[in-house]
Amino acid sequence: MAVQQQAGTVRRLKVWDPWVRLVHWSIVLLIPFSWWTAETGRFDLHFLSGYAILALVLFRIAWGLVGSETARFTHFLRAPGAALRHLAHLRRRDAPLEVGHNAAGGWMVLLLLLLLLAQATLGLFADDDVLSAGPLARRVDGNLSAAATSVHVRLFWLLLAFAVLHVLAVIVYRALGRNLVKPMVTGVIDVPRSEPLIAPRLGSPALAAVLLAGSVGFVWWITTLRPDSMF
Ligand code: HEM
Repeated sequence: MAVQQQAGTVRRLKVWDPWVRLVHWSIVLLIPFSWWTAETGRFDLHFLSGYAILALVLFRIAWGLVGSETARFTHFLRAPGAALRHLAHLRRRDAPLEVGHNAAGGWMVLLLLLLLLAQATLGLFADDDVLSAGPLARRVDGNLSAAATSVHVRLFWLLLAFAVLHVLAVIVYRALGRNLVKPMVTGVIDVPRSEPLIAPRLGSPALAAVLLAGSVGFVWWITTLRPDSMF
């Protein structure tokens, strides 16, 4: 009886498509893996991990332009004032339920994606002068490659700092009664029927598959640009 009542008062909205979730949780695994492989000198694996991150982020950016409504940058990037208003509402615990990223989270998402893109791209040009060089390192001037290496090493800590901030924000939302993790795992939110929220339009799986294959193909092509054409 209680379950029927529950089912009657709550409806399920699919807010995150499988592609956004795939990208997100793959990146969560690949970041510590990239760090560990670099620290332990397993550069073949480090390169593979970096290529995977680059392909996933390129796909996510393309999906942010033409994909599901909640994945689109135009859906979640709003004026900075809207982000501040959201945070003020959050403090008063009266922030409205939203489908997709809220105005403050949207900026964090953009920042994380750009940091990931920069980190993976710089890795292509990095060269430790001993064991390993990214596929494009020897195609550019040595000073440029040295600069890319230096920024690649340092940017990781900035990326980590923002990733930690991101996870802390998710924990704060949980403490304020909003579970954001479950929807990022299942794709679904439960909303009271009284809430006038509309289910977002989800992107075409065929288009997602083509974009993902295109991103993987593009990154694979970059790996072939290494002068000795090895991986
Ligand atoms: C265990 C650690 C993590 C948890 C629990 C977590 C949780 C989440 C949740 C709940 C969201 C959705 C937020 C919302 O509802 O608006 C999200 C989004 C996102 N997170 Fe994480 N996150 C974690 C680690 C990371 C890391 C390490 C990164 C990358 C540095 C990252 C990057 C992102 C990005 C880019 C999005 C936006 C997803 C999209 O629209 O594609 N997350 N995360």
